[in-house]
Amino acid sequence: MVSITLEHVSKSFGPEDGEQRGRVPAVQNVSLKVNEGQVLAILGPSGCGKSTLLRLAAGLIKPDSGRVLYDHDDLQEVPLMERGIGMVFQDRALVPHWTSRQNVGFFLSIRKREEEVPEKLKQIAKITGIGLDVLLERKPGQLSGGEQQRVSIARALSRDLRVLFFDEPFANLDAKYRTEARVELRRLMNAFPVTSIYVTHDQVEAVALSHRIAIMRDGQLEQLGTYQDLRDNPVNTFIATFVGTPIMNLFKGHADDGAWRGENFGPFPIRRDLPPQHPVTMGIRPEYVRLTEDGVYGVVEETIPFYAERHHLVTVHLAGERWSLVTPLDQPVEWGATIRCALDPERLLYFDTATGQRIG
Ligand SMILES: Nc1ncnc2c1ncn2[C@@H]1O[C@H](COP(=O)(O)OP(=O)(O)O)[C@@H](O)[C@H]1O
Ligand SMILES: [Mg+2]
Repeated sequence: MVSITLEHVSKSFGPEDGEQRGRVPAVQNVSLKVNEGQVLAILGPSGCGKSTLLRLAAGLIKPDSGRVLYDHDDLQEVPLMERGIGMVFQDRALVPHWTSRQNVGFFLSIRKREEEVPEKLKQIAKITGIGLDVLLERKPGQLSGGEQQRVSIARALSRDLRVLFFDEPFANLDAKYRTEARVELRRLMNAFPVTSIYVTHDQVEAVALSHRIAIMRDGQLEQLGTYQDLRDNPVNTFIATFVGTPIMNLFKGHADDGAWRGENFGPFPIRRDLPPQHPVTMGIRPEYVRLTEDGVYGVVEETIPFYAERHHLVTVHLAGERWSLVTPLDQPVEWGATIRCALDPERLLYFDTATGQRIG
């Protein structure tokens, strides 16, 4: 197993005449490391450069500048056959007239190691439950989309891989199958750990399947960390509002000699070194706004139940602003009711309003 390192990797697309004008920067100056045997999720909105980053990491395209290393070796210098790369894409690319068993065993059979196929398949089938076992004798046309995807994952894992890349493999599946497939893949990855990059625009999937998450926007890496890091320590308002549900509360205000003053409420202590009247946005997650006996009065505008999360998302009109907070499912509050809430001062985050960067 290897680690994957990207060092200042950039790639743009456009006219082939070498002119910079009109070129679209798809990936800009990205540096990151995928630890040996771990899964890194690449998460971000459509068009932010996830697939391009994956293709660069897999050596399918060359960076305009920067390097991709497997352990300490520049990928460009590693011969194709020694790269040991497996890929699972949204479109499944199974050989249509072969059974799943043939599709999965293909790699081992061309390497004259056909005898290893049944054992590896048995292991994979065991982990995935009965699923794969009965699927193996069918051809792709006789399988559903979800089943085909299982077969292609099994095929990837049946090889002696050094690295494995996923590009939104479950994006075309129904929600129910997506959840099942995710659980199954998680089990497989635990049983056959391999250094992996998993591209997705689905936050739940990223959290379920990866050790760490890299968040991209407009070709740039915005932040990399565990879900907990990203949720509790966002580097800017993009991460703050992109990661975690429900979405973070943000309030406009300014700094004033060690105090943050909101347009409608405050003050709260803030660092003293900010210029007077410096525009600062304050953020707090809905989970850290609590109903309390001695809190500030607000009026409930809306409540929405989230049964899986066991809570209500409540919108309150409070201190001249609209706040989101969460209440336990078994403690519903009525629309129009007056409630009292307080925010947890330890959980306040501050952002420079102009740049969005975190400043406290
Ligand atoms: N082969 C290509 N030729 C030209 N532009 C491309 C090519 N591949 C990607 N792009 C552009 O690069 C940007 C990033 O694309 P992509 O990596 O596919 O994003 P994502 O996977 O996050 O949706 C987009 O603006 C896309 O249009
Ligand atoms: Mg993509």
